[in-house]
Amino acid sequence: MNQTDATRGRFITFEGIDGAGKSTHIGYVTSLLKGAGKRVVSTREPGGTPLGEKLRDLVLHEKMHLETEALIMFASRREHVAQVVEPAIARGDWVLSDRFTDASFAYQGGGRGLDRAKLDALEQWVHPHLQPDLTLLFDVPLDVARARLSATRALDKFEMEQADFFARVRGEYLRRAAESNGRIVVIDSTQTIDEVRAALQAALESWL
Ligand code: TYD
Repeated sequence: MNQTDATRGRFITFEGIDGAGKSTHIGYVTSLLKGAGKRVVSTREPGGTPLGEKLRDLVLHEKMHLETEALIMFASRREHVAQVVEPAIARGDWVLSDRFTDASFAYQGGGRGLDRAKLDALEQWVHPHLQPDLTLLFDVPLDVARARLSATRALDKFEMEQADFFARVRGEYLRRAAESNGRIVVIDSTQTIDEVRAALQAALESWL
């Protein structure tokens, strides 16, 4: 991106296993950034565009080959990057995305066992020059996440997976965080809401 740091927006992504509580905290980060005078665009994956939302419905509910699943995640992402993420960053907005490519490495790679080289190739194809400026990884042990998954709403295809699947997803997220040179900040999501908020404020401090 041929733009100075001052005029370019920022790209922040939110990750974690299902039930880690990320949705609760996205609203808080939005209010922190808006309070600091930033223009915020909130979006999600899979989804974030009209076509992407149709793909989301398919991929969260239909049984399919593991590689089909990965390809749909990245097809949705291609549209999202082109239509939403890159234009917003270019006009100086701050993009907050509920999940991005780390989720494909964690779920399709760690969870389902898809070869990492294939995911690397898709990432290079779909967003060779774009990475999140910051990724907030909400981390909880599996039993806490399972207890938080609401019993009152229908679970999607991923949420119905077994504990060993989520153990692999969580392990892959944490492995990526350790190798990320600080891009991925792990937030201990077993803490109280106020403690998590303090951790989020600390992670964003240099930008507020
Ligand atoms: P999630 O973000 O948890 O939404 P909700 O809070 O509405 O349930 O659901 C999206 C699901 O999609 C989640 O289980 C993770 C999965 N997913 C992948 O497997 N790969 C991906 O690349 C992405 C973006 C999501």
